Amino acid sequence: MTLKPWHHFVHLKDELRTGELTLAEFAADLHEVTLARGKRPVYEDPAQFFALTYPTHTLRELVKDVAVRLAGRSDKAVRQLELTYGGGKTHTLIALYHLFRDPTRLPDVPAVREFREHVGMALPQAFIATLCFDKIDVERGIENVRGLDGETRTLRHPWSVLAFQLAGADGLRAIHGDGRDEERETPPAEPLLTKLLEMPAQRGLATLILVDEVLMYAREKAGIAPVWRERLVDFFQYLTQAVVKVDSAAIVASLLATDPAKQQGDLGRRLTDELFSVFRRQREEGVQPVRKQDVAEILRRRFFTGEGLRDEDAYRSHVIGVVRGLAKLDETTAKDRSAAEGRFLESFPFHPTWPMSSTAVGPNSTAFNAPAASFALWPRRCGKRSGGTFAPLSARRPCWPSQTRRCLRLRMP
Ligand SMILES: Nc1ncnc2c1ncn2[C@@H]1O[C@H](COP(=O)(O)OP(=O)(O)O)[C@@H](O)[C@H]1O
Ligand SMILES: [Mg+2]
Repeated sequence: MTLKPWHHFVHLKDELRTGELTLAEFAADLHEVTLARGKRPVYEDPAQFFALTYPTHTLRELVKDVAVRLAGRSDKAVRQLELTYGGGKTHTLIALYHLFRDPTRLPDVPAVREFREHVGMALPQAFIATLCFDKIDVERGIENVRGLDGETRTLRHPWSVLAFQLAGADGLRAIHGDGRDEERETPPAEPLLTKLLEMPAQRGLATLILVDEVLMYAREKAGIAPVWRERLVDFFQYLTQAVVKVDSAAIVASLLATDPAKQQGDLGRRLTDELFSVFRRQREEGVQPVRKQDVAEILRRRFFTGEGLRDEDAYRSHVIGVVRGLAKLDETTAKDRSAAEGRFLESFPFHPTWPMSSTAVGPNSTAFNAPAASFALWPRRCGKRSGGTFAPLSARRPCWPSQTRRCLRLRMP
């Protein structure tokens, strides 16, 4: 029997075919989402974002926990996202941003419905402040921080960036030593931050703080002047304590740096330990938004278009045929064909050994760097044309979106 090739069932997204999706673009970017400049529409536009998003079990649980906290009905105020680069940390922060920013205007799409159902109550609306540390220059700070009335400022210190977003000039005054509309050099103590975090409640809103890439900045800043190591650790200590005190406030933070070098060396390691222990002090377990079993589904949504993958029946006979061929060559498969069929069905169109072997979906993940099975798509041809052998397609070299087109072109008709 000649089986249909995998690309008859699924279609690669245009940006992959054309090579437009660069490595930089593959990583999610919360800062771009807040700026809403139309540069990264798949993340900025909630309809496109949720069409792409796979509501993993952990992600649904996190959304529920955050919703309950923002509604003032739980004491789980502090969450830390774990996993290294490519683990879906920023994607998770963006999901929270869209879900709680204006829940009444969310698109009515399956992923949003799944989140709503899992939460089981109306999603509370929150005022969201973001601290994307990879965008704060250690010397110049960050431009265009938007205050409440649309005023924008360039600010140097993370606490100023937070205060200005939450309450504009009043926010800066609330944490300044002399009550002035200016920045201060040291982290404000917990009572000042508590007052600041209560400000959105006066406007009927919960407060949600989303933090990304802390170690990128912390390592750099502490490297320039040692006093900053203590200041930053103190800032997070006071901030997490303050969030716990305000009933409808929550903080979700991703501390780890995209650049692993920032976590290495004596200083990097010490900072990592200190910051992790600050978050652990609130007795919240870390959250791993993407687990092993989620990777195949995330990559399917990221790489392919169309409904083909939702209809398992459409490619079931293809899978059965491939496993039958494989069973002739491989004793283990022959012994338990139905289990093998299940595995192949679940990971289609990827080879089951590939995406399942990692919990990260980014370029540093095992999945993308596994030398033998980098882009192990299903065989283009099986059966007679390939001499009856089963040969999972895999690139010899690690293969990433910008290279995918090249890899795939070798295999596409
Ligand atoms: N739940 C998910 N559903 C769909 N795509 C996801 C999901 N989690 C992560 N991704 C995608 O995987 C890639 C890596 O995730 P990202 O959030 O950038 O990782 P991290 O911030 O941990 O380095 C991004 O392209 C992102 O959009
Ligand atoms: Mg990230």
